Amino acid sequence: MKTYQTNAAFADNYKFLIGSIIPRPIAVISTRNIDGTNNLAPFSFFTAVSASPMIIAFCPMIRTSTGDFKDTVKNILREKEFVVNFCTESNYERVNLASTELPYGEDEFTFTGLTPMDSQIVKAKRMKESPVQFECVFRDMLCYGKEPGAGSLITGEVKLIHVDEAVLADGKISTDLFKAVGRGTGNDWFKTDSRFQMERLTKAQIQK
Ligand SMILES: Cc1cc2nc3c(=O)[nH]c(=O)nc-3n(C[C@H](O)[C@H](O)[C@H](O)COP(=O)(O)O)c2cc1C
Repeated sequence: MKTYQTNAAFADNYKFLIGSIIPRPIAVISTRNIDGTNNLAPFSFFTAVSASPMIIAFCPMIRTSTGDFKDTVKNILREKEFVVNFCTESNYERVNLASTELPYGEDEFTFTGLTPMDSQIVKAKRMKESPVQFECVFRDMLCYGKEPGAGSLITGEVKLIHVDEAVLADGKISTDLFKAVGRGTGNDWFKTDSRFQMERLTKAQIQK
């Protein structure tokens, strides 16, 4: 077994992070630029944090090309709100396009061909092609450095959940209908169509 120090360069740590923490779900974060245009970007350092209150978190890193916060972060810090949309089999190519580094203010719904929809309580738009959308209010930000590649943890409280009836079965989101897509190492992506079921066991069942 090989052992590595984590005080190595960004790229060395990064390859182990994205190679080991897999599969990662992808949040497609929509925010409003200062001039009212829309920003859209995927983030696979993304997870659920709390069910009640309902909190999610994602982790944007300082941009390596500029040493600055990504546009998503600038918008959230100013507007205090955002929308989480989801990457699925029917939108992943356009979601990938949304990761392109564009000049601030260039509308990323227009650029990607994805469709903006008004939200109900936040100004940031929802992405029509996402069958689940969370309207979020910014809660906290923890920053782990100022150098390129340093991450931040941004949490948001989900105030409204929108779900397309087409992905619902018995009032729950069906994995088969949702067809979520995730991220792996390098340029690997995952579909969620290879699964197995396993029930959680009680201690009594294990000791039988
Ligand atoms: C599937 C996917 C997942 C990504 N996940 C992250 C991530 O978790 N953190 C991050 O900083 N960048 C991530 N990126 C890169 C950002 O999407 C990219 O830097 C984007 O330009 C940021 O946009 P913004 O400046 O409009 O916020 C990811 C890219 C892709 C394609």
